[in-house]
Amino acid sequence: MTLFDDMLKDEESLFTDEHVLDFDYLPDLLPYRENQQGYIADCIKPLVAGRPGKNLFIHGAPGVGKTSCIRFVFEELKKSTDAIKPVYINCWKKPTTNAVLTEVASQLGSIGAHYKTNEELWAKVEKGLSRSKGVVIALDEIDKAKEQDFLYQILENIRAITVLMISNDKAFLANVDGRIRSRLTPEELEFPPYKLDEVRGILEERKNAAFVPGVWGEEAFGLVVDKTYEQGDMRVGLSLLRESGRAAESDASRRVTVEHAMRAKGKMVDFRMYGSGDLGEKEALVLSIIEENSGIETGELTEMLKKRAEPIADSSLRRIIQRLDKGGYIFREEVAAGYGKGKTMKHFIDK
Ligand SMILES: Nc1ncnc2c1ncn2[C@@H]1O[C@H](COP(=O)(O)OP(=O)(O)OP(=O)(O)O)[C@@H](O)[C@H]1O
Ligand SMILES: [Mg+2]
Repeated sequence: MTLFDDMLKDEESLFTDEHVLDFDYLPDLLPYRENQQGYIADCIKPLVAGRPGKNLFIHGAPGVGKTSCIRFVFEELKKSTDAIKPVYINCWKKPTTNAVLTEVASQLGSIGAHYKTNEELWAKVEKGLSRSKGVVIALDEIDKAKEQDFLYQILENIRAITVLMISNDKAFLANVDGRIRSRLTPEELEFPPYKLDEVRGILEERKNAAFVPGVWGEEAFGLVVDKTYEQGDMRVGLSLLRESGRAAESDASRRVTVEHAMRAKGKMVDFRMYGSGDLGEKEALVLSIIEENSGIETGELTEMLKKRAEPIADSSLRRIIQRLDKGGYIFREEVAAGYGKGKTMKHFIDK
């Protein structure tokens, strides 16, 4: 008997194509976002007719299909014309003017664009541009860019262009330099959260493409749908589908049951928890300490906050802990504090 004896054999896997559940997998169709796709395409169309395009500021919460829609529209554009070049840049990965220009130059086909000064890179960009009728530049996660002067340069010097800016932060534009903003004059496109039946529809398609037909129980799938809807992020659903499937496989089960979905849910790090807005800074700090020190007692928690130069008065610490408990982030257990010391609380992350 080895550790792997009870594993399902290859041909017995519950997955037909697990890769379909990857976050960067682009499905053939992106249902419920047809309007947004049409809107983005309309901003690009003038370029095809030889006129300047329209700029667009796209915003919405994480995991609502913004990046996927851009990629989808770019694929369609490539299918219909060679004259307009799509350039996609993730400003979190390419945060400086130099990195952005390098990427624009290389996606426009100017090879050897590495390690150059901004001026040299700009010459490469212009050379690349001269080979096409127009360019669409998508600047994803634009709020993560550390510099913005490339925007000025691009808007000032390229006429046949559409700039698509994508962000989670609706207020981003307000922080952009006025000279850039007045050259952008972008329209705004919001990606609202998916409704419950839309979440179900999207996950149903992914489930059907990733799993052997019929392995998912209706109730187990319903649990995944509900949790995804509650969090508003489709990545939650994709992770839960995958992890539930894996939980079933590790039990050598031929069906994904409620128990497997529950187990997957329990293991999932609630990545919304640390996001802005939902929890205050102090709550997030206390939560992270509890996460790092499972079972930590109240007194130790106070000490640790002091050590981190973030002292919190007992009364407000009590309120923060109550809020975390009520919100389902943590649970508490009363224990004896030691001989003659009464009771204290231990704190755990609630998964
Ligand atoms: N309408 C849809 N149809 C099918 N899959 C979708 C749809 N919307 C989102 N998804 C899936 O959800 C995942 C997250 O989508 P995407 O990366 O486009 O989100 P995002 O809005 O760009 O999020 P972030 O702001 O965090 O970058 C992807 O795997 C994508 O395939
Ligand atoms: Mg994205």
